[in-house]
Amino acid sequence: MKIIRKIEQMQEYIRKHRRAGKTIGLVPTMGALHEGHLSLIRRAARENDLVVVSIFVNPIQFGPNEDFKKYPRPFAKDVKLAVKAGADIIFNPGAGEMYPPGYQTYVEPGELTAGLCGAFRPAHFRGVVTVVIKLFNSVLADRAYFGQKDYQQAQVIKQMVKDLNLQMQIVVCPIIREKDGLAMSSRNQYLSPEERRSATCLHEALRVAKAMVSSGIKDAGKIKREIRNIIQSNLLAKVDYIEIVDAGSLEPVKQIKGQAAIALAVFIGKTRLIDNMVWG
Ligand code: PAJ
Repeated sequence: MKIIRKIEQMQEYIRKHRRAGKTIGLVPTMGALHEGHLSLIRRAARENDLVVVSIFVNPIQFGPNEDFKKYPRPFAKDVKLAVKAGADIIFNPGAGEMYPPGYQTYVEPGELTAGLCGAFRPAHFRGVVTVVIKLFNSVLADRAYFGQKDYQQAQVIKQMVKDLNLQMQIVVCPIIREKDGLAMSSRNQYLSPEERRSATCLHEALRVAKAMVSSGIKDAGKIKREIRNIIQSNLLAKVDYIEIVDAGSLEPVKQIKGQAAIALAVFIGKTRLIDNMVWG
């Protein structure tokens, strides 16, 4: 295992291994690793000769009132977990390495960011795609692994790879959940015990929505109202958005047909959680 903090050193290391014919998998993360992240690392280890896990809390994807400062950074523990799951290299650049004085170039994503989290977190996805392309250019991987947990993020990154002709494959992996259904997230650790109990309402609402669709209900408005009722019956929960969208374009749909995604963002106390489910 090796920890690399400089971009040039990372590129040089990868070039050497590429020349030796090795395939490279990259798992971009902001650390505070949990089973969701580890599932991506394990998959990358199965499919590539060399696995790089990047750990970088990217300042430019956080809004001014968001949790950049308090975001958990248990670096030593993360390194142990990542290596156990199959990481060969930890790429951990500092903010000054990624955005040195004078830095001024950003990648602007398009319509896919108009709704869902994009509508509620202005500049978030601009920060995400900018850091992701910088990570891709630092690591020069064959494949990069992302979670369906951040459904919009995965779609936006796939679009960027297509639009900018990047020669790499994006692999999207399933959502890993706690036993009671709560999607794993680094932010779950902000929850008090009482909030943690309430947080299961996101998955509960998605489960009910899925049952409604399976029973033949296609009216998106009706399903969204039912989801809202379930979440609002919870005193600690406040809906940020509930949306049913076309799984490809992310545009809201009135009727569920073909591939659709139900996505929600809910504040449990001060903590904003997201979850989703995809059909078809
Ligand atoms: P982070 O929130 O650390 O997540 C890193 C990757 O882990 C993302 O692709 C995310 O979708 C995936 N992930 C998180 N929770 C998951 C779960 N429960 N099941 C499956 N996968 C899960 O997403 C980011 O970091 C950043 O935006 C990043 C892409 C690293 C850019 O800064």
